[in-house]
Amino acid sequence: MKKDMVALVTGGSRGIGRAVCVELSKQVTKIAVVYSGNQDAAEETKKLVEEAGAECRIYQCNVADFTQTAELVKKVSEELGTVDILVNNAGITKDKLMLSMKEDEFDSVIDVNLKGAFNLIRHTASGMIKKRYGKIINITSIAGLIGNPGQANYAASKAGLIGLTKTVAKELASRNVCCNAVAPGFVDTDMTEKFKTDEKILATIPQKRVGKPEEVAKLVAFLASDAADYITGETIRIDGGLAI
Ligand code: NAI
Repeated sequence: MKKDMVALVTGGSRGIGRAVCVELSKQVTKIAVVYSGNQDAAEETKKLVEEAGAECRIYQCNVADFTQTAELVKKVSEELGTVDILVNNAGITKDKLMLSMKEDEFDSVIDVNLKGAFNLIRHTASGMIKKRYGKIINITSIAGLIGNPGQANYAASKAGLIGLTKTVAKELASRNVCCNAVAPGFVDTDMTEKFKTDEKILATIPQKRVGKPEEVAKLVAFLASDAADYITGETIRIDGGLAI
């Protein structure tokens, strides 16, 4: 049976975030889809969530902005209820080799990928603590585990997310709030448009294929479920063996 709970998913308008919204709508009653700019795409996610039988609202918000995220969480709490499940999925890349990376290319990736997750955790944690229940899932990347040339900004942001995950897990464990991270390898989304059919890249993946957003979504849904109640502070790779 579905739980009467609220899940908030950032970057829910497309790719992995959309798949997570749809998968979570099979296990909870209310989904808040957070998107940055593409309202039509967010509406499409809403349609899919409603077809799966959950209530859905869409919210435009720049996760990098502390004030906007505070207002977002307030609005979601008023309209849907306290956030029980938070999925920090919004992310961007601005790839360049270290020697040509500009300051703003470094800062903007850290701001969205790392500070964005901090902002959302900061504003939702007190509600979870009061309820003595919460599941926080941060979408990191294998780049945060093993590094990747051309992605100093992205890898740093994703490694930072792993440290954030472990710290939040330790701080909130006694209040029954779990915090975990999921580290995908190459997944078939707009973000990997340039790489996903590249034979050289596919050859580096032991399973010889990119992942599907739905596969990542199932792992997120597991971490958001009771089946994962005794898992916290963990980072789980889902990469076809790429980072073994
Ligand atoms: P995508 O580019 O298809 O979707 C990213 C989502 O984040 C979009 O909905 C976008 O609107 C949202 N977003 C971007 N900046 C935002 C902001 N400032 N405020 C609010 N929302 C914002 O990407 P994809 O592939 O679905 O990635 C989702 C997450 O998974 C990202 O964190 C990414 O780093 C991570 N990831 C993806 C991998 C892949 O191969 N696709 C591999 C490893 C990690």
